[in-house]
Amino acid sequence: MEADKRRAAEAALALVRDVRFLGVGTGSTVRHFIEGLAGIQPHFEAAVASSEQTAALLRQAGIRVLDLNETGDVDLYVDGADAFDPHFRLIKGHGGALTREKILATASRRFVVMVDARKRFDCLVDSVAVPVEVLPFARSFTARKIVHLGGAPAWREHYLTDNGNQILDVLHLPLSDPASMEIQLKSIPGVVEVGLFAHRLPELILVAGESPTVERLERPAL
Ligand code: A5P
Repeated sequence: MEADKRRAAEAALALVRDVRFLGVGTGSTVRHFIEGLAGIQPHFEAAVASSEQTAALLRQAGIRVLDLNETGDVDLYVDGADAFDPHFRLIKGHGGALTREKILATASRRFVVMVDARKRFDCLVDSVAVPVEVLPFARSFTARKIVHLGGAPAWREHYLTDNGNQILDVLHLPLSDPASMEIQLKSIPGVVEVGLFAHRLPELILVAGESPTVERLERPAL
């Protein structure tokens, strides 16, 4: 599995061309991507990190890290995912960085996802829990609202996000219409962000593990 993640990350490295500002996600696949970046020293001005962990790894690799407020939109955003479906919808946030990840994805001109093939699902409802970042003050309230939507939230105890908030990992959400569910969850007061990515979809998903070469899934232009 690590070898597949590394292969997907290597395929993404080839896309870091004509980039001034590079957004970098969070997780073990991204770790391979950063190691690769350090090796090839591509020419971009700076990176914007989706987490403190990623910022530290980038700095260790000798890469300049800037704040999104300093860069404006990024040219390319590269990240992993916890699940994807045939419509390019994602579940992200098992690493807890979903809020900054969604901001960076939305603030990017091109969003590329690197995954091993175990992240592929025919339907998101059969996949993994949907992380929801909530204000600590509103944790129980938001959990009750999520139950009304049909989900089963579990508090990720002893964990705080980089934004000082808490995470509810939600199973059994009715996900026949993920775009609508993303909006319904997001409109609960106290919800900061939702790990469902059904609106800002990636332009490209790189999948390693099902064939000798890394599969390139290009989202058809709308
Ligand atoms: C981080 O918050 C997540 O969205 C990651 O992108 C996701 O968990 C993928 O992680 P791995 O690359 O470790 O599988």
